[in-house]
Amino acid sequence: MKVAVLKGGASLEREVSLRSAARVEDAVAALGHEALGIDVGRELVGRLRDERPDVVFIALHGPGGEDGTVQELLEILDLPYTGPGVAACALCMDKVAAKHEMRAAGIPTPDWAAFNATAFQQLGAADTLEEIEARLGFPLVVKPARQGSSLGVEFAAGRDGVPEALLAAFSYDDRVLLERYVKGRELAVSMLGGEALPIVEAIPREEDFFNFEARYEIGRTDYVCPADLTGEEPALVQELATRTYEALGCSGFARADLMLGENGPEVLEVNAIPGLTDTSLFPMAAEAAGIDFTGLVERILASARERPASEATLHITGRS
Ligand SMILES: Nc1ncnc2c1ncn2[C@@H]1O[C@H](COP(=O)(O)OP(=O)(O)O)[C@@H](O)[C@H]1O
Ligand SMILES: [Mg+2]
Repeated sequence: MKVAVLKGGASLEREVSLRSAARVEDAVAALGHEALGIDVGRELVGRLRDERPDVVFIALHGPGGEDGTVQELLEILDLPYTGPGVAACALCMDKVAAKHEMRAAGIPTPDWAAFNATAFQQLGAADTLEEIEARLGFPLVVKPARQGSSLGVEFAAGRDGVPEALLAAFSYDDRVLLERYVKGRELAVSMLGGEALPIVEAIPREEDFFNFEARYEIGRTDYVCPADLTGEEPALVQELATRTYEALGCSGFARADLMLGENGPEVLEVNAIPGLTDTSLFPMAAEAAGIDFTGLVERILASARERPASEATLHITGRS
């Protein structure tokens, strides 16, 4: 089988993607397939046309790769690909859209307020900050709607910190959200197909915030898998992640990020294409379930090939 591994791209998570893809390419080769790494750019469609891979493994993170853009192209080219489809990717990439969907499905997610740059610059949205702050309390979390890896995520301890945090978030996206801070434990549930893998808990060592550098530097965060939860908790958290995965229309694989606070588990977001680097949480969860990295890639590839061919046609005919 010829497997194209899409990697790199122009997103800020390019380096993470290259690290995910290097492992995937090795695993594809170990499975006895031909691995064809493609750093995505202008030549993407041409390369895919020439090579006609049997399946495309999307190892891209962030806007462009994880938001449905590449998935749409693959559907037009009628190539099976790994991970969630176009609609689910678009939904998961936009934290605000995803939170609306979660609320509608009765899935707990922290309270929030959102606005885009137009509201802020032209409609006086800044004048609503007082109401928002009164509703969400402090500290509050400010984040860009469509970004990953904690990029642009800031905590505002008080009123003074909000403008600066907003500015930081707006430098990543023209749509931002302010979210109620959840004090508690940080959990991630990796979903392989419809199944929840063992829960990973991320315990930051130094700062109480899990920032971009901490996430990819070995030794700055402790990970525990399976997370040390008691009684009904693991089942509850896994069931919530499964419901979220389904509500957002995911397939193949994905990872839900949650906070476990005094009100029980609340979902922050779902990553449609979670990191697959050697320090990433998804491979760690698979390992805890007795699935090594090669086995994981094998399962993900198999789920891509199961995608019904009609799905592609359906989307394309529906587009005007
Ligand atoms: N509402 C919140 N309460 C507490 N911590 C949060 C909250 N939102 C985000 N965080 C912290 O910031 C990290 C990144 O936020 P997340 O929503 O997962 O965005 P992304 O991973 O896409 O950057 C989380 O893993 C968590 O540590
Ligand atoms: Mg996250």
